Amino acid sequence: MIGRVKSTGTIPSSFFKPYVRETKRYMEDEVQKYGSRILNMVWQSEDFIRLMGNENPYGPSPKVIDALKKATQRINKYPSPTYADLVEKIAEYASVEPENILLGAGSLEIMDAVFRAFLNPGDNVILSAPTYKPYILRIKVCGGNSTLIPMKKSENGFSRDIEKILEAINSKTKAVVFMNPNNPTGIPLTREELEKVLDKPILIVIDEAYYEFCGKTFAPLIEDNENIVVIRTLSKAFAMAGLRIGYAIADQSIVDYISRVQLPFRVTELTVHAAIAALNDMKYAKETIRKILDERERLFNELSKMEGLKPYPSAANFILVKVTHEKYSTEKLSSLLLGKRIIVRGFTGTPGLEDGGYIRISVGTREQNDKLISALKSILGGD
Ligand SMILES: Cc1ncc(COP(=O)(O)O)c(C=O)c1O
Repeated sequence: MIGRVKSTGTIPSSFFKPYVRETKRYMEDEVQKYGSRILNMVWQSEDFIRLMGNENPYGPSPKVIDALKKATQRINKYPSPTYADLVEKIAEYASVEPENILLGAGSLEIMDAVFRAFLNPGDNVILSAPTYKPYILRIKVCGGNSTLIPMKKSENGFSRDIEKILEAINSKTKAVVFMNPNNPTGIPLTREELEKVLDKPILIVIDEAYYEFCGKTFAPLIEDNENIVVIRTLSKAFAMAGLRIGYAIADQSIVDYISRVQLPFRVTELTVHAAIAALNDMKYAKETIRKILDERERLFNELSKMEGLKPYPSAANFILVKVTHEKYSTEKLSSLLLGKRIIVRGFTGTPGLEDGGYIRISVGTREQNDKLISALKSILGGD
C-alpha cells in the first residue's frame, strides 16, 4: 500500500491562461445564487413548466424513441468516424452536399470549434446585442474579444445596427456573428443586412438554431460565399436538446479546417440513430412546428393585452417581453412565476437590454401557455 503523499507544489492561478482566469463558466451566476443542488433539482423536476430554455415541449417523434431503443444494442461500439449516414441525411435536409456538413455535439460544440479553429489571442468578433451569452464566453476562452453592437430600438421593436457593425470592423476583426432569428429578440436576419458585410474578408457566422420556426435560411449562399458558416441544431424544432446534436453548413474547405479541432466520436451512437429517425419523420416535425407557431400567435396576443407587459413580435419559438409594470420588476415577476411552478428567463442589465427589465418566454403547449396566462393575469391583476 502506498502511504499518503502530500504534494509541496501549488498551482497558482497565474498558471492558467489569463483569458481562462477571466471567464466564468456557463450559468455561474445562477449556481452562485441558488447552489448547484437546488438548480439541478428544479432543472430535473417534472413539476415545473419549463419556459426558459426554448425547448420543444412536444418531445421528439415516437420514431426517435424506437430508434433509440434499437440503438442501445450498439453502445459498446464506437460510432462511425465519418458519421456518413447522418451527414448524408442532414445534407439532404439542408439541400447541400455532404462535404458541406459538419456535425457537432449540439450547435454549441460547433460554435466552440469554429472559434478554436481561427481565433488568435486578441482577435475580435462582432455581435449584435442582446445576444446568446455562450458566444461571448467561448470567444473569451479562445483569447478573443467580443464587440457588442447594441440593436436599435423603436416602437416596432428591435433592429440590427448594420452601419455601426460596419464601422466596428477593423484589422483585428475575424468574424461577425448573426442569429437568424436572434435570441432573445426573435428578429430574423434580412438579406440586405447580410449583403452589407458579405464582401468583408472575415467569417460570417449565421446561427440558425431557430430556423425552422421562421422558415428563412441563408444556407444556399454558401455555394458562392466561402466566408459563410451557417450553424443549426436538432435541439429546437426536432425536440432533441438532451441528445446534443447540431451541424454547420459551409464551404468544404471551411468544414475541413473546423473539423480538425473537433474530438473524434463527439456525437454518440444513440444520437446518430435518433437524429436520422427524426429527419425521416418530417411529417411529425412539421406538425409540432405548426402547433408552436399557432401557440406563439395566441400567446403574443394574450401578452399584448396585459398591463405592464410589452411583447415583441418573434420569428422563433419564444417571445421577448419588456416588463414595464410599475409594481413588478423582472426579478419579482420571475420569482412570483417560479412560486407558481413556471420558469421563464429574466434579463436585467444584459448588454443591449439595459433600458429596462425583460423576460423571455418559450412557447409551451396550449395547456402550459394557458397556465402561464392565468398565472400572469393573477399576478399582474393583483389577485
Ligand atoms: C441562438 C442559439 N444558438 C445555439 C443554441 C444551442 O443549441 P444546441 O442545443 O444545439 O447546443 C441555442 C440554445 O438555446 C441558441 O439559442
